Amino acid sequence: MAEGEGGASAPTPAGAAALGWTAHPGAALAGALRVPGDKSISHRAVMLAALADGRSRIEGFLEGEDTRATAAIFAAMGVAIESPSPSCRIVHGVGIDGLRPPAGALDCGNSGTAMRLLAGLLAGQAFDSVLIGDASLSKRPMLRVMAPLRAMGAGIDSDDGERPPLRIRGGASLRGIAFDSPVASAQVKSALLLAGLYAGGWTTVVEPRPTRDYTERMLAAFGWPVEYAPGRARLAGGHRLRARDIDVPADFSSAAFFVVAATLVPGSSLLLRSVGVDPRRTGLLEALRMMGADIRELDRREGVCGPVADLAVRHAPLRGIDLPERLVADMIDEFPVFAVAAALAEGRTRIRGAAELRVKESDRIRAMAEGLRALGARLEEREDGMELEGGALGGGRVDSRGDHRIAMAFAVAAQRAGGEIVIDDVANVATSFPGFEPLARSAGFGLRQD
Ligand code: S3P
Repeated sequence: MAEGEGGASAPTPAGAAALGWTAHPGAALAGALRVPGDKSISHRAVMLAALADGRSRIEGFLEGEDTRATAAIFAAMGVAIESPSPSCRIVHGVGIDGLRPPAGALDCGNSGTAMRLLAGLLAGQAFDSVLIGDASLSKRPMLRVMAPLRAMGAGIDSDDGERPPLRIRGGASLRGIAFDSPVASAQVKSALLLAGLYAGGWTTVVEPRPTRDYTERMLAAFGWPVEYAPGRARLAGGHRLRARDIDVPADFSSAAFFVVAATLVPGSSLLLRSVGVDPRRTGLLEALRMMGADIRELDRREGVCGPVADLAVRHAPLRGIDLPERLVADMIDEFPVFAVAAALAEGRTRIRGAAELRVKESDRIRAMAEGLRALGARLEEREDGMELEGGALGGGRVDSRGDHRIAMAFAVAAQRAGGEIVIDDVANVATSFPGFEPLARSAGFGLRQD
């Protein structure tokens, strides 16, 4: 089946389209499971395979709405993408200058990664384009990519100056810049590097803290010369990408819900297979180990975007910590579930230096603070984090604010709560974790669709 106009508006996978869940304590978590493919790697694999010379096969591709939106966008720009079986894509690359003008606006759905990376990539094309997104994405800040892309010579505007839709003028002559990024963001870094493929001279990005280096690693794997070290990356325009096959590991950020659940529920012993465990993603493991968790990495091997391992998790009691700020960027997507772990730990946990959480799919500090309070947690919200006094959680009703990770975090909380938790607005779980609900149930979760 070719990836057609479907993509973002394709039917959501079974079990993911519920409007709400009721979650409640289930059984001890047991067995072995594999969560779906890494979202960040799936986006980048499609993007680079589309621009490469030749045919690339992507195995383990995330069948989430976000990554399907990216595939649909490239299909709309003339790239033939076959889907011979679930989680597999065969991408017939059109070469670095082979994209064709799309007929209409390009819909990134809920995905900040798609929009920000594409902003850079499209800035280098000969044709005009418009990037749009859903209600949540339409509120997210884009100036962080627009400003440095303009400094490279890109023509990029938005109606209110900083939020989607983004209008990108084609035919700009881009020049490389040295950019000292004020924000630790792999999306900002990647937008610049992808624009840099089309720029004259060197494009250099320096970050305040190192972020995931998947764009750099994958460019290198597709044969583009790129120099990178933690916190910096640089490349020059004028090369080509060579098609290659990619094995996408399981997404650490999806595995994280099971890691925390198995840690929290007495008697649990769970194995999570083939998870990407690059240190730029696994800050949560370090934080949980500081709290007393029992998590082992088995059968460690090297993947195209860093190490991959099986994670063996056993229940362990947790105690609160002062979360070191150096871990924040390395666990940026894990705060909703980390807050759940902290709320159920013994003693106080302090989270600071995490203001970026306010501009994710929802304001994740506010969403978690409100939800945990509704369950009886004692906490104080800070502009850049929160302080929680760990203890027990009761049942109650929480609003996910349409944010996939908030919904799944409260499903985890319910496994150790004193009563049922009703979680509203969970349809967006399908953006990153299609099939979460049946998989979670099979592992022992108490969880049903409303
Ligand atoms: C991502 C980078 C992070 C992360 C997001 C995926 C990526 O965003 O939160 O889920 O794939 O580059 P920021 O770059 O905004 O921190």
